[in-house]
Order: sequence, then structure tokens, then C-alpha cells
Amino acid sequence: TWTMVNIVEEQIAGIVAQIGDDGRAICGLSGGVDSAVAAAIVQRAIGDRLTCVFVDHGLLRKGEAEQVERDFVAATGVDLHVVDAQKRFLDALAGVSDPEEKRKVIGREFIRVFEAAEAEVLGAAAAEGVKVAFLVQGTLYPDVVESGGGAGTSNIKSHHNVGGLPEDLEFELVEPLRTLFKDEVRLVGEQLGLPADIVWRQPFPGPGLGIRIIGEVTHDRLEILREADAIAREELTRAGLDRDIWQMPVVLLADVRSVGVQGDGRTYGHPVVIRPVTSEDAMTADWARLPYDVLERISTRITNEVAEVNRVTLDVTSKPPGTIEWE
Ligand code: XMP
Repeated sequence: TWTMVNIVEEQIAGIVAQIGDDGRAICGLSGGVDSAVAAAIVQRAIGDRLTCVFVDHGLLRKGEAEQVERDFVAATGVDLHVVDAQKRFLDALAGVSDPEEKRKVIGREFIRVFEAAEAEVLGAAAAEGVKVAFLVQGTLYPDVVESGGGAGTSNIKSHHNVGGLPEDLEFELVEPLRTLFKDEVRLVGEQLGLPADIVWRQPFPGPGLGIRIIGEVTHDRLEILREADAIAREELTRAGLDRDIWQMPVVLLADVRSVGVQGDGRTYGHPVVIRPVTSEDAMTADWARLPYDVLERISTRITNEVAEVNRVTLDVTSKPPGTIEWE
């Protein structure tokens, strides 16, 4: 729309002014809409002086890494630096089954991997004489209000400790979405021609599938969950319900087995839980009354197509008392 065109143009002009003619910027992409739109705006402003970093931690859902590495790059022409850290995250998660411990491990590894990539990209820029590095963040208006309105300086400070960066390199934040609400960000994303899968992605937690496997996270368990989750999402989309449902986690009860009968005989497989919810802001949520025929298709397809899963269950708990995620 006209307003969105204006917002985009205004943001681009502001970023050109802030970054100047020779500044370098870096932006981490998560696969979500905020970082993608923030990056796309900055790319329009300064082109290849922006480098995006995508840490593939192996905890994304089916197709999401490709959406970033292939579709987002094709749509924007952004300079993308991909770090394949899947093995590193799996190694770090070995033996970890406590939810908060998982979050700690994933958060810690993410920062380490991202900072190493950043040191590589910005170290090279500094060697060419760049004095100021700009960090692009997809901060939204509600985050700004929540944190008291100031610029997020703590994040900047932590960057002074990053190994491999020259002492005198200065950091400045770029937050192109600071004045926008989520629905406006999606409109801007559409305006910029970003892939619909990214623009309309439902909320997805940073620790990803790592907190949707109840028990230890392993390569094989991730594969099972990725397949089951992909089927559930496909059927939700086919039923035209994506925008009615806030989120629909699919959870693998990896340490639970139950007896089933599939194909030629008796199985001893794992259950998955489907957790569709409606919500306004994730603070409270209601379990979504999905039509029985949609549930039936999800259940039939998962148990037919994912050999290790022999039971599909539905979570009918609201929040509170249940949280949206199981961990
Ligand atoms: P809960 O499970 O607390 O989730 O009802 C509320 C919302 O937050 C998301 N969530 C997370 N997002 N890191 C994130 O970035 C996390 O560790 C995390 N845990 C939960 C969840 O998907 C829901 O949208």
C-alpha cells in the first residue's frame, strides 16, 4: 500500500544517513520475519556493505534453512554468510534433557558461533580501514516500549569483548523496525517482495525444535520431529487455517514408547503431541478447536509417513495452566 511504500522509503533514507558512504553493517538472520525484514531494508539502503549471517544450528523446521539460504537471497540479493553449525550444536546438546539447560546451551553456542562469524566479516572490513560497524537488529516497537525506550546499549557493549576484532572498531545499532508493530513488519516484508513463508511465519522459538523434543536432542529424533511437524503444518495450510492459529507446536515424546500396529505388525514407537493454540500475544492461549477432519488427516499422514511415530495425541490444555511449548 501507499503507506507501506512511504515507510520503506523513509527507513531506507534514514539508514543511508546513519551508515554513510562507507560504513559496514552486519545482521543475523534467524529464519523469522523480523530479522529478514530488517536486513532487507538495510540491504536496499547500502547493498553489499551489509553482510547477513545465518547460523544453521540444525534446530529449524523442514525447509526453513532453504527459505533463508535460497529464497531470501534470491528475493533480496543480500550478501549471506552461512555457518553450518549443526554438528557443533548436537555435540553441545548431547546428554542434555533439562529444558532450561537446553536453552542455556543453545544460547551460549549461538553467541559463540555468531561472534566468530562476525569477527571474520568485520575483521576483514576493519583491515580495509572501516572504523564503525553497524549491527542491524529487528527490534519492534513493543520491544522498545518494554525496555523503556532507550537504545539497546548492553548488546553493543558485549561486542567489545569479541575476540578477533580490532580494539578501535566502534559499534552502532541500526533498528529499522523500531517504530513498527508486527503486522506492519509483515506488510513491509510483502512490499519488499520477501518469500511468503518468511513473511507469514508463525512465532517459532529461538531454541527451535530443541525444546520440542522431550528428552535428549539427537540427530535421529530431530529428523523424526521435522517430518511430523512438516506434515502437520502442510495440512494446516491446506485447510486454510494458518492465520487463525497462533502457533501449532508438534512435540516428540522421545523417551516414551507405546505399542502400535502398523503395516505388517506390532510396533513400539513414539507419540507426538499436536499443540494448536489461538492467542493474541502468547501471554495467554486457548487450545484451538481444529476441525476433526484436519486432525484426522494429520494423524493418518504422520503415522503412515513417519515410521517411528505410532500415535498422535492432541493437547487440549489452555495457557494457563499449560505453556504453549512443552519445555
Ligand atoms: P510459552 O511456552 O512460555 O511460550 O507459553 C510463549 C511464546 O514464547 C515462545 N518461546 C520462546 N521464544 N525463546 C524464544 O525465542 C525461547 O526460549 C522460548 N520459549 C518459548 C513460544 O514459542 C511462544 O510463542
